[in-house]
Amino acid sequence: MPNEQVSKITDDSFLHDVIQGLSGKTKTLPCKYFYDERGSVLFDAICELPEYYPTRTELKIMKDNASAIGSSLGKGVLLIEFGSGSSLKTRILLDNLVNPVAYIPVDISEEHLNRSASSLAESYPKLVILPVCADFTEKFSIPETEPADKTVIYFPGSTIGNFEENEAKLLLNRWRRLCVNGGGLLIGIDLIKDPKILEAAYNDEQGVTADFNLNILDRINKELGANFKTTNFTHRAHWDTDKSRVEMHLVSNCQQTALIDGHQITLEEGETIHTESSHKYTFKSFAEIASSANFKSKHVWIDENSWFGVYFLEAV
Ligand code: AVJ
Repeated sequence: MPNEQVSKITDDSFLHDVIQGLSGKTKTLPCKYFYDERGSVLFDAICELPEYYPTRTELKIMKDNASAIGSSLGKGVLLIEFGSGSSLKTRILLDNLVNPVAYIPVDISEEHLNRSASSLAESYPKLVILPVCADFTEKFSIPETEPADKTVIYFPGSTIGNFEENEAKLLLNRWRRLCVNGGGLLIGIDLIKDPKILEAAYNDEQGVTADFNLNILDRINKELGANFKTTNFTHRAHWDTDKSRVEMHLVSNCQQTALIDGHQITLEEGETIHTESSHKYTFKSFAEIASSANFKSKHVWIDENSWFGVYFLEAV
C-alpha cells in the first residue's frame, strides 16, 4: 500500500504514540490508529455483523425519527461531522435538512473520507461538501463557508464511548464553542444493556472484530517497520461492570519480543495490549457528561429496547 494513504497522521506522532503506549507497565495503543485504509474497511464490515447492534439500532432510530430530527436542527445549518467514515447515517440527516449551508465531514482515514465525499456529492449535487482529513482529537482549522444560521455537530456511532470520561468532557467542551447561535450537538450514545449482548458485539462469530483488532499490529509493521507476529496474539473483548465499558485487548500467546525502530518491546505470555475502551452509558451518566460541557439535552430519541440513544444537545 503506498504511503500517500497514511492520512494526516505524521509518521512521527504515530511512532511516538506507539512506543509510548508499549513502554509502560501496562501496554496500550490508541484506538484511533485502527483506521488505516484496511481498518476502515473492516470497521464498515463490523457495522454489518449480526452481533454488532449499535449501527443498525442507531440507523433505525434515525430513520424512524428523521423528520423530527431534521426539524429540531432547523434550517440553514452548517453540519460538521467528526469521524464521518462512510457518512451512512448522515444521508438520513441530509434528506431532512432545509437549506444546509455546507457539510464538513472530518475523518482520520483520507482514502475513505474522499471516497465517501465523492459518493455523497453524487447523491447531493447542490450540497457544499468540504471534507477535512484530520484527527479530531487534535486542533485543526475548519474551512470557511457562507454564513450559517447555526452550526450543528454530528457525532454518531457512540464514538464518544472510546474516550475516558475526562477526555469526553474536554472534547464536548471544545465543540460547544463551535455551536454558536442556537446550534448544538447531535450525538449517538450506546446504553448499558445485558453484558452478553455487549460482549457478543465485540466477539463476533466470523472474527471480523478480531481482524480489526489485529490489524493495528499489521499497520505498525507496515508503517513503522516493526516485526510483530500477529499469529502470536489473540483478540479478547470483555465487559467491565465497574468501568462501564467493553475493553478490547490483544493477548500475547507466548513470551515474545518485537522491534520497532530500534526499541525492543517484550511481552510475557498472557500479557495484553489494551487497544480500545467502549464506554456504555445510562441516561444519568451521559447527562452528567453533557451538562459538565454546558450542553442541555433538547431531545432524546431511543429504540424500543432502550439500547441506544440519539441526543440533540443545545449549547447553553
Ligand atoms: C468506533 C465507537 C463506533 O467502540 O463500538 C467496533 C469501534 N470497535 N468494534 C465501538 C469498534 C470494535 C466502535 N466505534
